[in-house]
Parts: sequence; C-alpha cells; structure tokens
Amino acid sequence: MLDALVAYEDIAADALAGLTATPKTLPSKLFYDAEGVRLFDEITRLPEYYLTRTEMALLKRIAPEIASLAPPGSALVEYGACDPTKARILVDAAGADFAAYVPIDVARGALEALAAQLRTQEPGLAVYPLCADFNHDPVLPAAVRGMPKFGFFPGSTIGNLEPEVAQTFLAHARRTLGDGAWLVVGADLRKDAQTLLNAYNDAAGVTAAFNLNMLHRLNREADADFVLDRFAHTAIWNAAQSRIEMHLRSLARQSVRVAGTMVHFGKGETIHTENSYKHSISAFQALATLAGWSAANVWTDPDMLFSVHALRADSAR
Ligand code: AVI
Repeated sequence: MLDALVAYEDIAADALAGLTATPKTLPSKLFYDAEGVRLFDEITRLPEYYLTRTEMALLKRIAPEIASLAPPGSALVEYGACDPTKARILVDAAGADFAAYVPIDVARGALEALAAQLRTQEPGLAVYPLCADFNHDPVLPAAVRGMPKFGFFPGSTIGNLEPEVAQTFLAHARRTLGDGAWLVVGADLRKDAQTLLNAYNDAAGVTAAFNLNMLHRLNREADADFVLDRFAHTAIWNAAQSRIEMHLRSLARQSVRVAGTMVHFGKGETIHTENSYKHSISAFQALATLAGWSAANVWTDPDMLFSVHALRADSAR
C-alpha cells in the first residue's frame, strides 16, 4: 500500500490531466496520503468491509497448505507490502521454511520500519526490503537470486488494476520470479450487488471520507479550492464490467481552480476515482493463464466472499 511517505511530485499534472478529460477522473494512488492511509485502515475494520477479515481468516486456515508449496529455503516476495501481518501468517505456519522475505513497496519509510520490526520478530528470516513500484518490473536483490521464489500479493489490490494492467503485472511477476516459482494472490469475488455496495458505502461514512480526502489533498498539495460539501461520495456496481466504481458527484454547477486552471462541473457530473474489480474464480484463472501462470489451486471462505489463488510458473510454458 502507498503511504504518505511516498514522494508524489506530479500531483498537480496528474490531477489536471484527469479533471480536464471527459469523463473526469482522478488516479486512485491519490487516496494514500497520511490521512488516506489512516482512513483505509479504518475501512478494513468496518462491519460492512468484509474483505480484510475474510482474507485473514482464510489465510490462517490455509497457511500450512500454502507454506507446504514452497520448497525449503524459498524467498517470500510480497508485492505492495507495508504491513507484514499477512506474510507473517505464512512465515509462522506449521512446516514453513522461508529463508528470506522481500517486501516490495514504493513507501520507503514504511518498508524500513517493517524490516526493522520483522528482523526482531523473525530472527531466522533475512529481510531485504525493496523500494520499487511493483508495476514496473522490479529487480530482486542479488542475495535472493539463487533461492526458489514464492510471490505473495494479498489484499485484493489486484482488483484495483484494470484487467490489462493486472495481466501485465502478472506477466512481469512471472518473469521476475522465474520458472518453478509460485504466486499466491488474494482476490475479492463477484457477489450480490447489495453486499458490494454496502462495503463501499458504509453507514459510518468512512469510505465517503476516504474518497473526499482526495479533494482535501488537492487543496493542500495542488493549489486547488474544492469546497468539500459541494461533492458527494457515490459507489456504483457496474455489473457489465464486474466492478465497483467510486465517484465524487458534484452537487451543483460549479467551477474549481486547480493549479491555476479553472475546472468546470455540471450539477450531477462525477469524477471517477477508483475501480475495484470482482473477478470470478474462472475469470481470474483465465487472466493468470494469459500471463503465463498455471492455476494450481484456489481456496475460498465458506460464504464464497473471497478467494486465494495459488499460481505456478511451469518451466514448460
Ligand atoms: C486497496 N483496495 C483493495 C481497496 C478495495 O477494496 O478496492 C480500496 C478501497 N476503496 C474503497 N474501499 C477500499
């Protein structure tokens, strides 16, 4: 997960590119300043947001099975890793024998804190934090090059990538981790619209605050003058695309200055801020197969809310 420690220099340019397009958009990476990280953490504990607790419970149940896939002395490579909680479930599982842990994230400060914490908690594990954007094909540290690789991408972050971007990410991970590697991915499942809408429009308004925080951030960091109560959080289930969309809806016809440019909004016009794709098991496996992986196993919770996929990089492919 991105956090406030990420230097985000092109914020005004990125915001203006999206706000002058039709329809208007803002990049979801804008969510994660310090306040956005705090709000997301609150979201993960909301009664309506089933994703985090369901994935955690599922991982705890299947961790020994997952760990048994990894050859002894494997390097656990986690994509988008600012919180080691889920990786520790695998490392501490019965029969697990990981020699090294490579958390990859763009947030340098958070990575260093995580590495320091893990070196104390897991003294037998060599920790090699890698500050990089996992979408840009990071090069693994030399120290783990000879080890079998075991990739891990929990949290359904893959659902926030457009399907073609997700496929590119999976293909890059296939190349980075190499023949014989494993990749375990957590992915939220398609389900009834109301459960999804509740998860992205909670009664306490935390998701609304998370979405609106983007405008707050532009006011602070991109010389913008959004009046926050003239916009409202909206979550939509787009069944055709199998995704939850988050938007900010303009409650009035209005103009807003962003980095010296006036942006005009019609009443009801929206800024599209995030997609969260809900892949069925077969759709996810098809995506992974196109990226060069073999779908080896999949686990779900009893209510079929969330899935954890084990993908294998067969040397023959
Ligand atoms: C980080 N990601 C998996 C979250 C999701 O569910 O798509 C981000 C989020 N957006 C609104 N609530 C949570």
